[in-house]
Formats: sequence, structure tokens, C-alpha cells
Amino acid sequence: MGAGQDIHQASEMTERFEPPADFAGSAHVPSFEVYKQLHQRSLDDPEGFWREITDDFVWFKPWTQLQEWKPPFVKWFVDGETNISVNCLDRHVDAGRGNRVAYYWEGEPGDTRTVTYADLLADVQRFANGLKAQGLECGDRVIIYMPMVPELPVAMLACARLGLVHSVVFGGFSADAIRDRVNDAGARAVITADGSWRRGRVIPLKATVDSALAENASPTVETVVVLKRCENAVDWNDDRDVWWDKAIDGQSDVCPPVHLPAEHPLYILYTSGTTGKPKGVVHATAGYMVYTAYTSRMVFDLKEDDIYWCTADIGWVTGHSYVVYGILANGASSVMYEGAPNHPAEDRFWEIIEKYKVTVFYTAPTAIRTFVRWGDHHPDGHDLSSLRLLGTVGEPINPDAWLWYHRVIGGGNCPIVDTWWQTETGGILITPLPGATALKPGSATLPFPGVEPEVVSEDGQPVEDGERGLLIVRRPWPSMIRGIYQDGWGQSGHVGEFGDRERFVDTYWEKFPGQYLTGDGAVRDADGYFWVIGRVDDTLSVAGHRIGTAEVESALVSHSSVAESAVVGAPDPITGEFIAAFVTLKAGIDGDDALEAELTAHVGETLGRFARPKMLKFTDALPKTRSGKIMRRLLRDIAAGREVVGDTTTLEDLSVLASLRGDDD
Ligand code: PRX
Repeated sequence: MGAGQDIHQASEMTERFEPPADFAGSAHVPSFEVYKQLHQRSLDDPEGFWREITDDFVWFKPWTQLQEWKPPFVKWFVDGETNISVNCLDRHVDAGRGNRVAYYWEGEPGDTRTVTYADLLADVQRFANGLKAQGLECGDRVIIYMPMVPELPVAMLACARLGLVHSVVFGGFSADAIRDRVNDAGARAVITADGSWRRGRVIPLKATVDSALAENASPTVETVVVLKRCENAVDWNDDRDVWWDKAIDGQSDVCPPVHLPAEHPLYILYTSGTTGKPKGVVHATAGYMVYTAYTSRMVFDLKEDDIYWCTADIGWVTGHSYVVYGILANGASSVMYEGAPNHPAEDRFWEIIEKYKVTVFYTAPTAIRTFVRWGDHHPDGHDLSSLRLLGTVGEPINPDAWLWYHRVIGGGNCPIVDTWWQTETGGILITPLPGATALKPGSATLPFPGVEPEVVSEDGQPVEDGERGLLIVRRPWPSMIRGIYQDGWGQSGHVGEFGDRERFVDTYWEKFPGQYLTGDGAVRDADGYFWVIGRVDDTLSVAGHRIGTAEVESALVSHSSVAESAVVGAPDPITGEFIAAFVTLKAGIDGDDALEAELTAHVGETLGRFARPKMLKFTDALPKTRSGKIMRRLLRDIAAGREVVGDTTTLEDLSVLASLRGDDD
């Protein structure tokens, strides 16, 4: 719980930042009273509340039943039919707004493109026709492994138009990770690129897909569509591979959208859990569409003349909801940037903000802490006066980083929306509304309309204000996870009838039936503000990436030298947490620097570079209780360099502790 300690102390702080009067004056939610009424109404009259919001969307068949809630399975807008690509694109073009810019795209090498809504609609339809020509049909699963280029949203929206269920895999994941996801999803196609630019180097995406699919390891894949981005040489399999340009060659730019039932699965996004196997979180079409669109509008206070920029990679949920679907559904104009924040120099982000006159900027605390380290002269050298609203997501933000962001980037007059949510929640659940909510640095503040969170003790009772407890959500919201993907959930997607029910129930619903368990610890203060402290399960947040300790452990033990491993997180001033691994080796093998480097690289190859341990210690044995449970608390203390405190009497072998601390080095 890296920054969590600070947050806990910060909840005692009293400094508040009221919404600036000029901001509130023109905001969608202009005062705290309006927020309170909105929130109350959303709970008292959900039907009327959501009806007004959904009236703005295109429905092929309007919904008459708001919700079916058979805990833990939910359907929203139950009998409605729609298509999210129509609501993100056709709706705006049909309203005469086709010339509006959807994306100002900035490639890492400096090439740029401006993509209007009309362009995007034509590209999506042409590519959708290309996918159809490959034989793909409604309900099929498609893996997308692409750089941050406009063709990535095109691929997602084309899938959505046809009812294909996409699963975007972040470009930093390894071949093994792709193979696991392709096979779990039973994907029929993969969409990728010859490469991706990163700090001036080419990341060979197609080659990684080739190794994922090598030796027929993923027999369901029939087609690999390859976009040319970097002029990077690639191997070619004539039976399977098709260039993007060839796939769309001669295709019409008209492709009628499939009329999809509200609950049709829109996408699968894999996220880390407490076991070695990532969970395929399934989101459903209509609820996700409505909720991401509505939160985008209210949280980012989107207006006609805004230039919005979310720096998240589309490979994570933030990019799905707040680079693609929720933002396009509002017809807003975004910046999309392909590369690294320090290429060619450490002021790249500020240069982009100045160039495009970005008004709303959304990024992660880990990035902010990095910018602090790089120095104020970078932002100070640019005109950032276009900014009017800032946001953060992904982990708790420590008050120092918050205050720096507010002062140096926001010039002291931009509200900051600290948005708490998860892959599973689909959209933002706890957040300030920038014209309404007084801010306290480090607090995600209050629930969004429709959301009813609570902090409870282990037995499910609300804890006192100021006490730490488990964060739960008492009622379902439209973009709630529908289940964990399992073979057979492609075609009709009826809630609760498919998917890995057992894992879904165990993970989120077992502890407090009917109430969603977030896996986060939190405190609520006397003003009702939520302070999210961090995960209480065995998942880590490293530079805003969620990583399961069990995944790293199984990557380590898949190496032939490793007998056993335990992985924990420890506080890191920049990345929030770092990964620390404790490893026992097989008999006769000695741990040295070379093996340490080899194991670290092995984790990188198995999971992805971002999951490599920063600290790796060899040990003769892991500390265990008499019942054989690894004592992670002790390992966390050791990794953090803290005095080992608390009850160690159940340790099987106290000498293990001494050797881990290095007392016998
Ligand atoms: O621990 C919380 C943390 O990120 C977790 C969700 O990770 P993921 O599914 O990868 O989604 C990240 C982007 C939505 C949460 O369980 N988290 C996310 N936002 C915040 C946060 N912790 C504190 N404050 C936040 N604003």
C-alpha cells in the first residue's frame, strides 16, 4: 500500500479547495446542492434518472425495463437494442457534426493526423466490411494488439459495429501473455501492427504475435490483420496473415450496424487477480455505453470547445472508457499520443498541451511523480494556460504530488478530479464533480450519481467515520462487470448463464452477498469523503499497472532453476509500489547476480517488461506459518526495509527471517 500511508494521514488534513467560481458558473453540475439532488434522485428514482440520460442515445429498440438484478447477475436496459459504434459515430455525423475532430493524433516520431468524426465513421465501416470479408461473425472474439494509432479505435469500433467481442491486449505484454488471452477467449482473429514506436525504437508487435501463435499454439486463430506503422520487416504466413490495407481494399465505407441486445458482450479485458490466471472481465454493450458517456460528460465537464487528453494507453480500461467509448459518445475532441512522455525530451507532454491547447488533462499519479522528479523547468517552459481541468486515475495520489499538479500544471486554478474506479467497474464510481465538489488532496471524494459505496468491517458492518475498512458498493451500476469470460460466452451472452460463475462469485460476491467487493481498503471521513488506501488482496499497483503477485510467482517458478517464490509489493516514491521477489532455488543451484538478471528477464518475457521485479532475493527457505502459509506481511516489511514487527511466533523457522534480512550475509 505505497502511498496509502500518506493518504491515511492526509484524511486528517483540513485543507479544502473549493471549485473556482468561474468554473462552477458554467459547469454541467454547478454546485454541491445540485450534485446532492442528482445523487439522491439517482438512488430514489433510478428509472426516471436513467431514462432522461438514455433518451439522448440511438436505440434500435428503446428499453422498457431498466434493470434485472438477480444478485450477483445484473442486466441493464434489459430489452433495449443498440450499437455503441452508432452512438459514438453515426449519431454525431447525422447531426451535422461530421467535421468535428475526434482525434488530434500525434505520433512519437512527430508525424500527425487529424481524424474527424466523418473520417472515423468511414474508416470504421470500411474496416468492419474487411473483417466481415474475413468470415468473422457476431459473437466471435478478436484480440487487438496495437500501438496507440487511430486504427486502434477504428478496430475496436469496427468490432463493436458487427457485434464481435474485442479483447485489447496492452502492447507491453509478452508473447506468452498474448497466447494465454487468445486461448482463453478462443479468438478467431488477431489485429496487430508491424511495430510500435517507443523512445525512438521499434517494438516488434507482429513478431511477438507470431511467437504467441507459433507451432499452432492457438488453433482458433484463422486470421492476423497487420497494420503497417513502422516499415518494420515482418515474417509472413500467407495462409493466415493479411495486411490492413489489403483487408480494406475495395471495401465499401457503408456497413450497417448490427442491432445488438443491450446485454450483448462488448469486450473482454483481462486484468490481474489473486491467482496466476488473469480474469477476462466482460462488459456489456448498453450499460457500458451509457455509463461511460455520462461519466465522461459530468466528470470531465465536457463542452463543445474542449480539447481533452487522457494519456492512458488504450490497452488498459482507462483507455477503453475514456480515450475511446465514453469520449466519442460525447462527440468530444481528444488528443491521442503514441509514444513515451520523455521522447524526444522530458517536456513532450507539455509541448503537446501547448500545441493543441488542451483544456482537460487526465493522467496517472505515477506519471505526476515522475514529472516532479524531472523538474519544474519542463512545464514552466510551456504555455499551459489552456488547461481548465485536471484528472488522475489508477492509484491513490499522495497530497504532495496533488499539490504540485495543482500549482505547477494547473496554475493554481484548475480543479483536479481524482477518479476512483477499476477494470471491473467499467467507469468512474467515486470522484469529485469539478464545479460542485470541494477537493481534499488525496481523496477521491464522493460517489458519482447512481453509486452507493460503503466502508465496512470484515463482518460487513459500516465502520465509524475515520476507521479503515473494506470498500464495497451496495447496488449495481450500469457498467458493472457482467462476469468472467469462459468458453461459450460468445453468441448470446445472457447474464449469469455463461462465464466462470464460480470465480465471479468467489472474487466479488461471496464475502458480502449482493454487494460488490472492490478489493480496496478505504476510510470515509466525517464529511463523507472516501479515501481509497489501496488493494487489500494480493494484487499490486506498479506505475498504475495492476499486477497479481501470483502471476509473477508463477512466472518465476516456470524457470527451471526456481523451486518456490513469493512476491510482494513495497512502497516506491515514483511508481507507488515496486515488485519484490523472494526465491528459493532447486537443490544444487546457487543464486548469483547472473541468475538474478536471468530470472528478472524471464519474468519480463513471460508477462511483460512492466512486471519485472525490481528487487529479487535468493533465500534458502520462505518464512511460513506452521500450516504452510507464506508470511507475506514479513516479506513486505523486509522488502520495504522496515523493522519486522508484530507476531512472528507462528514462523516455522525463525532463522529464515534472519537470513532474509541479510543478518548472515
Ligand atoms: O486499487 C484501486 C486503484 O486501481 C485499482 C484498479 O486497477 P485497474 O483495474 O487496473 O484500473 C485502473 C484504472 C481505473 C483499484 O482497485 N485505483 C484506481 N483509481 C484509484 C485507485 N486508487 C486510489 N485512487 C484512485 N483514484
